Amino acid sequence: MSDIIIAPALPEDIDAIMAVQNNAYSAITPENRETMASRIKLAPEGCFTAKQNGMLMGYILSHPFIAGEIPPLGKPLEQLPPNADSWYLHDLALECGLRGTGAAALLVNAVKYIAAKHGFQQIFLVSIQQSSGFWRKMGFAEILPEDGKIMQKLRSYGRDAIYMKAEI
Ligand SMILES: CC(C)(COP(=O)(O)OP(=O)(O)OC[C@H]1O[C@@H](n2cnc3c(N)ncnc32)[C@H](O)[C@@H]1OP(=O)(O)O)[C@@H](O)C(=O)NCCC(=O)NCCS
Repeated sequence: MSDIIIAPALPEDIDAIMAVQNNAYSAITPENRETMASRIKLAPEGCFTAKQNGMLMGYILSHPFIAGEIPPLGKPLEQLPPNADSWYLHDLALECGLRGTGAAALLVNAVKYIAAKHGFQQIFLVSIQQSSGFWRKMGFAEILPEDGKIMQKLRSYGRDAIYMKAEI
């Protein structure tokens, strides 16, 4: 793990981030460049990369958001909600070569630290691609959206999508 460097994600990292995303997902259509870049533009403090031997091998994108709401998949974020009351973890992905190294926990902990620093006590996410076991290890637990419309948005992430929350 000593050769893994966690650093803020920069706009110029977007090509490498897109490459990691393309390799990491089979359960969803990868999100487009604008969608991914909008997170880095609007909430740079919530976005990090993991580099190994100078190569970008993983990323995490997150931003302030509203508890109980789910951003539409594959759509750029136009603005951060002015009434944000929590943090939202949009995406985490690693190249296979970085999995099992502890880099994922480093990225998640970086986001927890930033969310807490901004004064929020909760982080939400949508787990897909059978990743809920991983998220449970990271301190997240499943919650059921109360609103039917939000449930519909959750389903747009795929049949196995699970809405999860961590208290920080
Ligand atoms: C999800 C992802 C970031 C996890 O990174 P990773 O390096 O594979 O995870 P780690 O090895 O650090 O796992 C940490 C712990 O979670 C467990 N874990 C990892 N993936 C798991 C899974 N899919 N289901 C259940 N447990 C899992 C590990 O066994 C480990 O447990 P331990 O602490 O008892 O040893 C990585 O697999 C990935 O990039 N997947 C593709 C993209 C993706 O699906 N992202 C999540 C979308 S919501």
